[in-house]
Amino acid sequence: MRVVAGAAVIATLAAVTGCTTARRGEPLFHSPAAVDAKVVRGEKVFMTHCHQCHPNGAAGLGPAINNKPLPAFMIRLQIRRGMGAMPSFPKDRISEEDADAVAAYLLFLRKEGKGGGG
Ligand code: HEC
Repeated sequence: MRVVAGAAVIATLAAVTGCTTARRGEPLFHSPAAVDAKVVRGEKVFMTHCHQCHPNGAAGLGPAINNKPLPAFMIRLQIRRGMGAMPSFPKDRISEEDADAVAAYLLFLRKEGKGGGG
C-alpha cells in the first residue's frame, strides 16, 4: 500500500507541475524568446529600409539612432512621418508589426551597447 500511496503523490505532483507549466500565460513581451524573434525580424526590416542611411544604427546620411534615448513610439512616429531628409514609410511599406519590430531592434542595439559605428 505504501508504494501505491507514493505513486499517487508523485502523480499528483506531476499533475500540479504540468498544470503550472501549461498556465504560464505570460504576455509575449515578457518572454525572452518572443523578444528575440521580434528583434531578428526588426533587423531584417532595418537592413531593408533603414540601413542605407543609418548604417547599423550609426550615423550615415541620417544621424546615429542607436545611442539615443528614443522611446519606441518616437521611433515609430519617425518611421511613419519621416522628418527632414528622412522619408516616411507608410503601412504598405512597413507594416505595424514591422515598425514595432524595428523599434525593438533599435532598443536592443542601444541596450547591447552596439552603438558607435559598429
Ligand atoms: C534616406 C535616408 C534615410 C532612411 C532610409 C531612413 N532614415 Fe532615419 N533619418 C534620416 C535623416 C536624414 C534623419 C534626420 C532627420 C532630421 O532630423 O531632419 C533621420 C532621423 C531618424 C530618427 C530620429 C533620430 C533623432 O536624432 O531623433 C530615427 C529614430 C530614425 N531616423 C529611424 C529610422 C528608421 C527606423 C528607418 C527605417 C525604417 C530610417 N530611419 C530610414 C535619414 C534616413
